[in-house]
Amino acid sequence: PTVLVLNGPNLNLLGTRKPEVYGSTTLDDVAALCRSAAAEHGWAVDLRQSNHEGELVDWLHEAGRTDGCPGVVLNAGAYTHTSVALHDAIEAIDVPVVEVHISNVHRREPFRHHSYLSPVAAGIVVGFGVAGYALAIRGLATR
Ligand code: DQA
Repeated sequence: PTVLVLNGPNLNLLGTRKPEVYGSTTLDDVAALCRSAAAEHGWAVDLRQSNHEGELVDWLHEAGRTDGCPGVVLNAGAYTHTSVALHDAIEAIDVPVVEVHISNVHRREPFRHHSYLSPVAAGIVVGFGVAGYALAIRGLATR
């Protein structure tokens, strides 16, 4: 079984973008972290990143069509706060989706306080830095 770890806009810049907020680890480091957390449960990881909303929608549909997919870990970046399309895609699939944010969005600007994804997420991990991705994978494993 393979966990899909999806990353939205600007997360390709992880490690260099606002390190005081997001830390200095890169998305490749996140992939390694996810792989070791998933391996504890006998799972593989397919980590992807896109700056395009529709591509994230397509990938959620793909997870929904994949037999035995244990879940999706989704850091949708700024689309969290804007995207009805991602809300609908999560709602449309039977696979559990865990919403992850590296930063504690609730300590930040008010426009980051609302998530279109939270009402349809299986769970939410916020504010634990990149460790949140591993926590999300462990959360999926306990379901
Ligand atoms: C983020 C928080 C979002 O508000 C922001 O737009 C991001 C990253 C996080 O991981 O903390 O791109 O999802």
